[in-house]
Amino acid sequence: MAFSAEFLQELAERNPIEEVVGEYVALTKRSGQNLFGLCPFHSEKTPSFSVSPGKQIYHCFGCGKGGSVINFIMEIERLSFPEAVEFLARRAGMPIPEQAADSGRERRTRLLELNREAARWFYAQLSAPGGEAALEYMRRRQISRRTATNFGLGFAPESWDALTNAMKAKGYTERELVTAGLAKSGRRGGVYDAFRGRLMFPVIDVRGNVVAFSGRILGDGEPKYLNSTDTPVFSKSHNLFGLNLAKKSKAGYIILVEGNIDVVSLHQAGFDSAVASLGTSLTNEQARLLTHYTKRVILCYDADGAGKKAAQRAIPILDRLGLEVRVVTVPGAKDPDEFIKASGAEAFRALIDEGESGMDYRLQSAAAGFDLASDAGRVGYLKAAAEIIAALTDSVSREVYAHSVAEQCGVSAAAVLDTVKQLRRRRTRAEAKKREREDTRPERSLQPRELGIRFDNPSSAAAERAVIALLQNSPELFTPGAAPEPGSFSAPELRHIYEAMLSLTRRGMAVTAAALGGSLTQEEAALYTDIIQTTPVSAANGAQALADCVSRIGAKPIDAAELDLLAFTGEQQQLKAYGGNSHG
Ligand code: UTP
Ligand code: MN
Repeated sequence: MAFSAEFLQELAERNPIEEVVGEYVALTKRSGQNLFGLCPFHSEKTPSFSVSPGKQIYHCFGCGKGGSVINFIMEIERLSFPEAVEFLARRAGMPIPEQAADSGRERRTRLLELNREAARWFYAQLSAPGGEAALEYMRRRQISRRTATNFGLGFAPESWDALTNAMKAKGYTERELVTAGLAKSGRRGGVYDAFRGRLMFPVIDVRGNVVAFSGRILGDGEPKYLNSTDTPVFSKSHNLFGLNLAKKSKAGYIILVEGNIDVVSLHQAGFDSAVASLGTSLTNEQARLLTHYTKRVILCYDADGAGKKAAQRAIPILDRLGLEVRVVTVPGAKDPDEFIKASGAEAFRALIDEGESGMDYRLQSAAAGFDLASDAGRVGYLKAAAEIIAALTDSVSREVYAHSVAEQCGVSAAAVLDTVKQLRRRRTRAEAKKREREDTRPERSLQPRELGIRFDNPSSAAAERAVIALLQNSPELFTPGAAPEPGSFSAPELRHIYEAMLSLTRRGMAVTAAALGGSLTQEEAALYTDIIQTTPVSAANGAQALADCVSRIGAKPIDAAELDLLAFTGEQQQLKAYGGNSHG
């Protein structure tokens, strides 16, 4: 897994961070050199997620996540370090050094192969003796054989070991079956099939890998669905059922529904862009996945109260990513599947065509709570509407909706916009106050925000952070005799960062998050970014500042011999930082 710092640096340069992050987060330029957007790693209404194209890092001032473009891809695509490197290398068309093929990848490949074999086997069971029950159920739900093939539907027979035995015969171990979520460990040793007597829906990712299964009971019974647990190749919150097919659709929009059966039924009726969120309420990651394939989403959740609530929750998530949202409710049916069966595809097409935009839908739901014929009702609605509008990040959208609400209530648009402005000002002020409160509690704000790291000795840690910031900005100060000894650091994470930085500097390389990437953990990378984004360094009199830090750490200065020990062995390097040629 040892990628050289040079390779990692080149990888980062060929994948400009503002470009890569921009594919996941809408970034806007504010004053200064940073781009800002809404953090994809925690939920927030005002942007505290920054990208610095110059420093080639991202950093969230809210949750503290941060690092290089590689850390970002690890975090957002849920990949290991070598996988993220591979992902970015492929993106930039760069060859990957040999050693990248690590055992973790082999393990994943085997799990994916096992899943594919299992899907084939489930499919074959439809035509095997015992498969009649599933065929009969599909007939009852009006799922054609062709649709079944299109989705790779299958049948898990009512057996404790049929799948397990079939997969063992193909050379897979019980352990692999359990890891894949296809089998469970029995109490008395051994394993048994996880899915029994169920119609099987393979979950296939956008690359065509079978990553998981969802199994529906034939007929009534509990639980209705069983889903694969999260595995090394599957995370429920990062996948959408049907996206492998929907991504090829020419519809120009994606229809988001609740049920697997709805997806299957809609595709069969010609709506080939339907997907479902696998029984979870829509996650940020799922929404972001959609942005790769469409700009428009039609929400068509179940008609019951739970479906309406779920839609209300999903709208802002989609909205925030710049997706245009329309909401469609099926009249006189519990879900899209039932509606299509009862009223036909044409009727559904008509619903889609007249779908409301997500904002309109929200404003209308708000209006429904007031009597607009009365003055008091209109005032109440105006306030509620202003709240909804104030949450929009885009000023043009705020203007547009303010106008339509104004018209509805018979007041001037300026009055509505005024209220919106006040609300936004109040919000910003409240946030600024909160930040201030945090800043005046140094003990607390010195702790890395929401990272799993806690400093035992905050005041020494503060000095250690300052040393790191100084090394980043003025490496020339770190001469033998001036640079503090890493062993004197109180926080192991900070020491680790410092050592990694020193060894890059010692090789004459610039210290960047990407080049450090091979030696830091994800948390350390975030901590490093936090330091270089938030620790002020005075340009003047760096030598004195460094000496002050060293005394506050209580460290003795490093001596020349130890500096050499820190250096990478190997090539002779230019020794910019230590003002001369390599002693190594
Ligand atoms: P539904 O109960 O609406 O299922 O749950 P459905 O797919 O529309 O099936 P029918 O039409 O009632 O037969 C919606 C989704 O929620 C998840 C499944 O992904 C399902 O498709 N779910 C539901 C579960 O994960 N577990 C359950 O027990 C029920
Ligand atoms: Mn349903």
